[in-house]
Amino acid sequence: MIKANYPIDKFNEIQTPFYYYDLDVLRKTLVEIKSETKKTDFHVHYAMKANVNPSVLAVIKDAGLGADCVSGGEVQAAIDAGISPSKIVFAGVGKADWEINLGLYNDIFCFNVESVPELEVINELASAKGKIAHVALRINPNVSAHTHHYITTGLSENKFGINMSDLDHLIDLFPTLPNVKLIGIHFHIGSQITDLTSFQGLCVRVNELQEYFLSHSVKLEHINVGGGLGINYEHPNHFPIPDFQAYFNIFRDHLQLQHNQTLHFELGRAVVAQCGSLISRVLYVKQGSSKKFAILDAGFTDLIRPALYQAYHHIENLSSDLAVEPYDVVGPICESADTFAKGFVMNQTKRGDLIALRSAGAYGEIMASQYNLRKLPKAYTSDELAH
Ligand code: LLP
Repeated sequence: MIKANYPIDKFNEIQTPFYYYDLDVLRKTLVEIKSETKKTDFHVHYAMKANVNPSVLAVIKDAGLGADCVSGGEVQAAIDAGISPSKIVFAGVGKADWEINLGLYNDIFCFNVESVPELEVINELASAKGKIAHVALRINPNVSAHTHHYITTGLSENKFGINMSDLDHLIDLFPTLPNVKLIGIHFHIGSQITDLTSFQGLCVRVNELQEYFLSHSVKLEHINVGGGLGINYEHPNHFPIPDFQAYFNIFRDHLQLQHNQTLHFELGRAVVAQCGSLISRVLYVKQGSSKKFAILDAGFTDLIRPALYQAYHHIENLSSDLAVEPYDVVGPICESADTFAKGFVMNQTKRGDLIALRSAGAYGEIMASQYNLRKLPKAYTSDELAH
């Protein structure tokens, strides 16, 4: 069984559970993104919601990515990390006035607007500041992402974006709102998308909408196709870096940009998921009536994805090379949903063994909670532990 290369000696000195970020994996991922995007001047705004660990953010900022934010907190964190406001996009169905003001104050690149009333409020707040806000319309393209229903966002039944049927009204409205300037259109159809034909469907819809805006003499400076590229949760050691070439080629081949138009992306998971692991220790191995439970000191307060989305995370016992057998791998929290995997086949396990829950760099640490008054997990990087 192939296992990741971890500094086990260092791990033994640290209180579990904790997150571990392999910054070399992150750097290699970013090199790959850069080499693919520079071919056609594509712009990537890292989706801050996936992970805002300061060390991780610093590496992402150094690679030159912008930021995609969905709250005032994220806008501030991006600015604090040194990401230029001219590379910050701000989405979200419910932006509060203070959050809009924060974006206006910092002259961010673009507000991705999700409703008519929001557009009117941005216009009002911008007017009060004597500014002109740059906005893109987040359009709900009604394209299926073929992914878990909790992380599907681009169907007309979802709460996100502006319905295509509202566009005529919006085009009439813009000339009456002097403090907003329409500079683009924005889409995001969902997350953990592994069937790339979904993105092809998005391209077709974008091309149709481009025709629509052209026919209404509206010039768009940019198109933003959101994020969503999935990663390989089953085989993180074989596929540590997503197939960015195939992903970006879909847009190169199928999306027709107009003269001087730029194409923007908001990737989160694909950037950071594979560099992160949740490291935990086995507290007890308990023999149930028909199976064994490996009870960890990490629970869904540290990594909620399996409980919330029935998500699969690959599990490795870093302390054992013994023959494999099945375990239900569970946490200590007083809820049955606190289960990482059922019948997971791993090396024979005993109390004290170190366990790695893989591909936890995205939507892991950031979604942690203190339920049961548990401590929030700490995080360490490969750079820190190398010394
Ligand atoms: N842009 C927008 C407008 C989004 O809503 C999202 C994610 C992204 C970009 C980044 O998507 P990504 O490239 O990471 O797929 N907590 C869930 C995922 C929720 C994603 C929400 N939106 C999970 O753990 O799977």
